[in-house]
Amino acid sequence: MKPVTLRTPRLVLSMPRAADVDAVFAACQDAELQKYTTVPVPYERAHAHGFVVDLVPQWWRDDIEYVFGIRESADAPLRGVVSWQRERGFVGYWLAAGHRGAGVMTEAVGAVLDWVFSHEEIDEVRWEAVAGNVGSAIVAQRCGFQWDGIGRIEHVRPGQEDGGWQAVLTRSDYASGLTSEPWPVLP
Ligand SMILES: CC(C)(COP(=O)(O)OP(=O)(O)OC[C@H]1O[C@@H](n2cnc3c(N)ncnc32)[C@H](O)[C@@H]1OP(=O)(O)O)[C@@H](O)C(=O)NCCC(=O)NCCS
Repeated sequence: MKPVTLRTPRLVLSMPRAADVDAVFAACQDAELQKYTTVPVPYERAHAHGFVVDLVPQWWRDDIEYVFGIRESADAPLRGVVSWQRERGFVGYWLAAGHRGAGVMTEAVGAVLDWVFSHEEIDEVRWEAVAGNVGSAIVAQRCGFQWDGIGRIEHVRPGQEDGGWQAVLTRSDYASGLTSEPWPVLP
């Protein structure tokens, strides 16, 4: 698919570009991001370059995964990414450390879900996280995902094999616009 651009009241979501390599490299040094995502550790500039310049355009072209860079305007620096992992049926996301806690990711994920459900013939979108990732869980819960239990998740790091948190957003729940039931792992 040709990359698309999505807009929300505060954000522009568009495919990362070569000029974003340094921002991705800097953001991916964060210990929390490294703990809770699948980025290589240590994260080198070549990883950022390979992700932005090679993988992301290829994934869009081959309909494998649609990665959106999160910005405050079309020309602004990249603050994070939200991704529809189309082949797996999952959403994934991270935000640079200095920009967290302002509702940015809830807004970005909501926009991607609107787009996914409007153009994909799918029954559900799934979410998973390393157990204990409260921030990510709050975003998913606020976006309407229902808790689906603890189970095996992919690409865990040593020490994280005991299972991860899982949730699902069905098309019917999305369409009904209902807010999610309370999650047992969240306050
Ligand atoms: C998860 C992440 C994307 C959230 O982004 P964000 O823009 O801060 O999310 P939002 O502001 O929309 O919502 C997060 C909410 O969780 C809260 N929160 C975050 N971490 C928390 C924690 N450890 N305990 C309790 N609440 C927490 C925030 O305060 C915020 O709630 P508030 O609006 O009431 O203040 C960001 O923290 C991140 O990039 N983390 C590292 C990478 C990661 O974990 N990615 C997800 C992998 S599954």
